[in-house]
Amino acid sequence: MPHAMNDVILQNETKELYHDYQEYLQFQHLYQAAVQSIQMRLEVLNEEFSVKYAASPIHHIESRVKSTKSIIEKLKRKNCEISMASAKEHVNDIAGIRVVCNYIDDVYSVEQMLLRQTDMELIKRQDYIAEPNYNGYRSLHLDMRVPIFLSDHTEYVLAEIQIRSVAMDFWASLEHDLRYKADKTTLPVGINEEMFQCADEIAAIDRKMQDMYHRIRGAK
Ligand code: GTP
Ligand code: MG
Repeated sequence: MPHAMNDVILQNETKELYHDYQEYLQFQHLYQAAVQSIQMRLEVLNEEFSVKYAASPIHHIESRVKSTKSIIEKLKRKNCEISMASAKEHVNDIAGIRVVCNYIDDVYSVEQMLLRQTDMELIKRQDYIAEPNYNGYRSLHLDMRVPIFLSDHTEYVLAEIQIRSVAMDFWASLEHDLRYKADKTTLPVGINEEMFQCADEIAAIDRKMQDMYHRIRGAK
């Protein structure tokens, strides 16, 4: 699609959600600030770990602010009003942070470190590691509010933090890619079952690596 066309579509969508450009900028800034704040907290923790224990629980962090197009699509899907107030209330992942850890235990250590941060509030917790979803997806999801101190007031901004191991991320990335490709054709029979089986096999390897790590650390 040519750039100009993209711009026109974006302009129309933006008008649906925001009254004017100023509102759009403030909204973007708020969620960008939430992402930055959470990302920095995680980086501080990870650096402390490497200083203190010569170990890094976090492999890498990915983050993004949801696009206007995706916010509007989600509001429509949920039959919610298209407005900023409605987006703030009903869309939990406008600020999205993905923390990819080395080992399974690190996922829960990172969770504990985040829950200790008393200015952040846990809104919802979904443990798809203890209970994988229908196709085998594994991750720990924390929906949390983070305070953003603005010039004349404080906003408590909702963010979705996905915490998973490198192995879980490997599966999730490829499953997402395959599912996206499959949208255009029909899914061959048995794929869902195979996907679930792959997730199980990867999880077994994840536990094995975790166990080796414990033994090596214990032997030191
Ligand atoms: P909202 O969080 O309100 O959107 O609904 P929910 O809580 O039912 O969704 P959930 O927290 O289960 O999933 C939210 C996000 O997790 C998605 O946007 C994906 O990033 C990720 N996710 C969930 N299920 C899958 C899956 O089967 N495969 C992959 N690759 N990612 C998934
Ligand atoms: Mg969720």
